[in-house]
Amino acid sequence: MNILLLNGPNLNLLGKREPNVYGNQTLDDLYNRFNQLEEEYHVKIVPFQSNHEGALIDKLHEAGEKGFSGVIFNPGAFTHYSYAIRDAIAGIDVPVIEVHISNVHKRESFRRESVISPVTIGQIVGFGLYGYELALKAMVEYIKRER
Ligand code: DQA
Repeated sequence: MNILLLNGPNLNLLGKREPNVYGNQTLDDLYNRFNQLEEEYHVKIVPFQSNHEGALIDKLHEAGEKGFSGVIFNPGAFTHYSYAIRDAIAGIDVPVIEVHISNVHKRESFRRESVISPVTIGQIVGFGLYGYELALKAMVEYIKRER
């Protein structure tokens, strides 16, 4: 089972960026944790981060073409306005779980809307980096159930 771990703009700055909102852990810390989880869940994690909308769209297409089992995706600010990313998700036959590190509902009002959510199987917000782990657990359960 291949799972794409996809992170959008500014998430390369985790650990340095607004630590009061996003915490002190880095993207590498997340990848290290997912290395451990690969064994626990018997999955292969393919990580990718980009600050560019098109690169994220290309990766989503690739996940579709290569028959990935799922995508765990934090689209960053693209969440709130990228119809192109939404259409890319709608266009592939791969389940996507949306993750947000912060509780987007407690912040500025523009963060409350996600144009991505309607084409995902679910959304996890507000649990810090642990949210990605919750998403992996949920994804593995979802895939087992759908088989
Ligand atoms: C975020 C929330 C978004 O509103 C913001 O633009 C981000 C990170 C989160 O993980 O909490 O870049 O997706």
